[in-house]
Amino acid sequence: MKLIRIQDIQTLFSQIDMKVFFRELVQIMKEDFSHWAEFQKSARYAAYVENGVMELMPICSNSLFSFKYVNGHPENPSKNLLNIVALGMLANVETGHPLMISEMTLLTALRTAAVSAMTSQLMARKNSKKLAIIGCGAQSEFQVLAHHALFDLSEVHYFDLDPHAMDRFAQHLKGESFQLIQALDTRDAIRDVDIIITSTAARNQQQVLKLDWIQPGQHISGIGGDSPGKTELDIAILKTATVVIEYFPQTVHEGEIQNLGDDAQKYVHAELWELCAGTKPTRRSDEEITLFDAVGFAIEDYSILRYVYQLTNQLNIGLDTDLIPEHITDPKNLFGLLKKIS
Ligand SMILES: NC(=O)c1ccc[n+]([C@@H]2O[C@H](COP(=O)([O-])OP(=O)(O)OC[C@H]3O[C@@H](n4cnc5c(N)ncnc54)[C@H](O)[C@@H]3O)[C@@H](O)[C@H]2O)c1
Repeated sequence: MKLIRIQDIQTLFSQIDMKVFFRELVQIMKEDFSHWAEFQKSARYAAYVENGVMELMPICSNSLFSFKYVNGHPENPSKNLLNIVALGMLANVETGHPLMISEMTLLTALRTAAVSAMTSQLMARKNSKKLAIIGCGAQSEFQVLAHHALFDLSEVHYFDLDPHAMDRFAQHLKGESFQLIQALDTRDAIRDVDIIITSTAARNQQQVLKLDWIQPGQHISGIGGDSPGKTELDIAILKTATVVIEYFPQTVHEGEIQNLGDDAQKYVHAELWELCAGTKPTRRSDEEITLFDAVGFAIEDYSILRYVYQLTNQLNIGLDTDLIPEHITDPKNLFGLLKKIS
């Protein structure tokens, strides 16, 4: 069984260009979303605690099973801890044996960025060049670079309440081919852009974006509203935009649409798989306002785990471990395994 540590992901990115990684991951993710009906799926298990949330996200196809443990503790950065950390596992359906345990803090940021960019590719205007991001925290650079892998961005406008977050964001992205423009506030950041990403982490009902500020044709990728009582958008945006979600039974409790109560279904245009499979239309006009109400669904973890498993096998990255007994000669002699250890 393979163990993928942070250092293995670092090795991986010393050998593969990030744009190539994002493009291939988006391709794989689109393929998985297109086969939606073949997956056994459920809304995630979430334990809501005083400072945040701890979740398990399982999913199963005909060949592979995966799950992720992930938390969200918005106050953590003030204690010098990451808001979100994660671990994941991929298993073989035929035998039930785990194939890989992986770090998923980085993989969560990468897959969240990939699904956000994939949906922008389906829903934003085709010639989108200008992007704004509100919230320059841990997820932010990944979001921008995944979009840059799919769109030839010319301008990235950014705003965060924390000036240090904006400095770090600009420092990390200064070598990219787009122009980086620090905004005075959110309204200033989103003026005249094609795509708006909101990735803030406040633990209550925020109005990071107001409908009055949104211009015709803009696409919003709302990734920060992802727990009961934790949302980012003016409810009027939900009622005006063409809304795409991942999985209704989960999003109705965790996403922006939770604020619509019993009317939630009425304002949802499609689940993402329907756009990937081509059974529902994507953008229908250049004036349409579109919204991806992202909360993060298990299939995205599944896609990145299966991609990373394939890549790390090809490139011989990762550690082979005996976390499970794989090379036992007599499968009924479990007790004998103790003797080998002592
Ligand atoms: N949809 C998904 O799949 C998914 C996956 C990962 C993270 N998330 C969510 O995305 C959000 C961002 O995650 P992160 O890891 O980057 O968090 P983070 O704590 O590292 O960064 C959040 C940033 O938002 C800024 N911020 C807060 N309120 C703001 C406001 N009103 N205007 C501008 N900036 C504001 C903070 O100063 C901070 O820099 C979180 O809410 C997280 O739960 C969603």
